Amino acid sequence: MTLHRVESRPQAGQRDHARIVHAVGARPNFVKMAPVIQAMESLAGVRQLVVHTGQHYDDRLSAEVLADLELPAPDAFLGVGSGTHGEQTAKALAAFERVILDFDPDLVVVGGDVNSTLACALAAAKVHVPVAHVEAGLRSGDWSMPEEINRVLTDRLSQLLFTHSPEAAEHLAREGIPSERVFYVGNTMIDSLRRYEGEARRRAVWNRLGLEERSYVLVTLHRPSNVDLESRLDAIAERLARLAQRAPVVFPIHPRTRRRLEAIDRLGQLEDAGVRCTDPCGYLDFLSLESAAGAILTDSGGIQEEASALGVPCFTFRPSTERPVTISHGSNVLLGDDPSVIDEVKLGRRPPTPSAIPLWDGHAGDRIADVIASTLGIESGASVDAAVAASQHC
Ligand code: UD1
Repeated sequence: MTLHRVESRPQAGQRDHARIVHAVGARPNFVKMAPVIQAMESLAGVRQLVVHTGQHYDDRLSAEVLADLELPAPDAFLGVGSGTHGEQTAKALAAFERVILDFDPDLVVVGGDVNSTLACALAAAKVHVPVAHVEAGLRSGDWSMPEEINRVLTDRLSQLLFTHSPEAAEHLAREGIPSERVFYVGNTMIDSLRRYEGEARRRAVWNRLGLEERSYVLVTLHRPSNVDLESRLDAIAERLARLAQRAPVVFPIHPRTRRRLEAIDRLGQLEDAGVRCTDPCGYLDFLSLESAAGAILTDSGGIQEEASALGVPCFTFRPSTERPVTISHGSNVLLGDDPSVIDEVKLGRRPPTPSAIPLWDGHAGDRIADVIASTLGIESGASVDAAVAASQHC
């Protein structure tokens, strides 16, 4: 695979090192990108820069998660912050372009599907720097999700596309993306999970809440489609209060959701109904709670994957999922999005059986590093053949 660059720019081979920029911005990016950044650290002849757009800026969503993942402070923080989709994307685009022009990388690596992902991929492509996309090819088919727009456009802008499940390659092929750009490498989010699972379990955060393993439902809700409409959030809160009558409910609340619940005067009522409303947790604490939950109710993407890797029953409160492999091979059930379906959430009291999803084995970051090294002509300690062979699975 050869990357396309404009003639006026030096090629990686003409420098004594290759320059790589990793762009991160929001909580799930850190979890997905840490294994890639760490795997690339072991490569000789690479200078890498980690750039944090600042889309997430609260300590609980950012600094604490970075520290849990043993990532050093980012080399640059762009301070983009919150705003409308257009504002947030535009600010990240402009600020990230300045970083690229300054650092002149040979490759920009982006992950996932948040606004920062698209903004940084677009900035790089516009100044002719090749883009690699970690977690390429996921599709929900729901164009009303901001993440779906981000996924499709980021994939279109990318020259290296790293996928975590076979159906991703099918989506990319259908959209006309040449197969030689696509590498089936597995799931970097599960690399992080496997690395920290033991430590997270030793934290036993459920004990601090006075709960027993498998006795509680862990809830996360933050999608605009669930929390931004008052009447809908009100109906959801009512069902959560009912759920708390059947089992303890632990609800680490995203800032967006907290603000909306407060605005409709529902937060206090949820607490009165016994729902344990907490601040968002850091990565290790949240993984700890996930690992011992009897069930998880969520509208997140990544949590469907983590729950499946842990084998914990997951109820996804959405009409669609871009991660069907978690249903066919994992522990995920797609509930739909009518608030009444929350009544269907049930505890699984038996010890969970982690799902064996191909290539979700803790080594996806190494495979990505191998492909990047071979593409940029850098020496890599590990076997490039493994990743290339993996790409032929799709
Ligand atoms: C973003 C991603 C979503 C991802 C989620 C994980 C997009 C379009 N969405 O959603 O895909 O699942 O991150 O959490 O990129 N806020 C704070 N502090 C922060 C960050 C946000 O208070 O550190 C509040 C602000 O009011 C902000 C709101 O949360 O307006 C939403 O933040 P934003 O980054 O726009 O999207 P998320 O809902 O976090």
